[in-house]
Amino acid sequence: MKQILIFLLIGLLTTTLMPAKDKFKNLQVLDFETEKELKAYMKGMANNLGVKCVFCHDMNDKSIDTKHKKIARGMIKMTANLNEEVFSWAEETKVTCWTCHRGEKEPQITQP
Ligand code: HEC
Ligand code: HEC
Repeated sequence: MKQILIFLLIGLLTTTLMPAKDKFKNLQVLDFETEKELKAYMKGMANNLGVKCVFCHDMNDKSIDTKHKKIARGMIKMTANLNEEVFSWAEETKVTCWTCHRGEKEPQITQP
């Protein structure tokens, strides 16, 4: 009994202390220390587009790449490139999903 408890405790400790990038199966661009940070980023991204997690994810396994998730990964890279290369002069982050999306899945391409 005591051994089982010790095993359980070790299991619990390793999953809570494990870095997020080891815990998640399919992070190709994002790099977060903790699960909490990743979840906060995901919530922000969903809000910026006015969607729920299910718009990009297979809710049974979020590591699966869906059509929208792949597009979103490209958008994350594009946004990072804009901030690093075009806005390299800026101290703080200038471009986010919100900059174009403004709470919509599909930003307006031309002036209405
Ligand atoms: C606009 C699309 C989009 C929305 C909405 C979104 N995600 Fe994600 N999510 C992604 C992308 C893209 C990745 C992979 C990032 C990478 O490759 O570094 C990801 C990865 C993840 C992972 C890691 C999965 C793994 O094991 O690799 C988790 C967990 C996750 N998202 C949770 C959420 C939750 C919870 C929500 C809702 C609050 C959410 N996501 C909303 C696009 C989205
Ligand atoms: C420089 C402007 C810009 C930025 C910044 C931007 N996007 Fe986009 N995004 C677009 C445009 C333009 C489209 C195409 C809309 C259309 O199909 O009419 C699009 C489409 C998408 C789509 C596909 C929507 C659909 O209906 O299929 C997703 C998902 C997406 N963006 C996610 C993101 C995420 C997540 C971020 C932030 C990491 C982001 N975008 C940042 C301009 C941008």
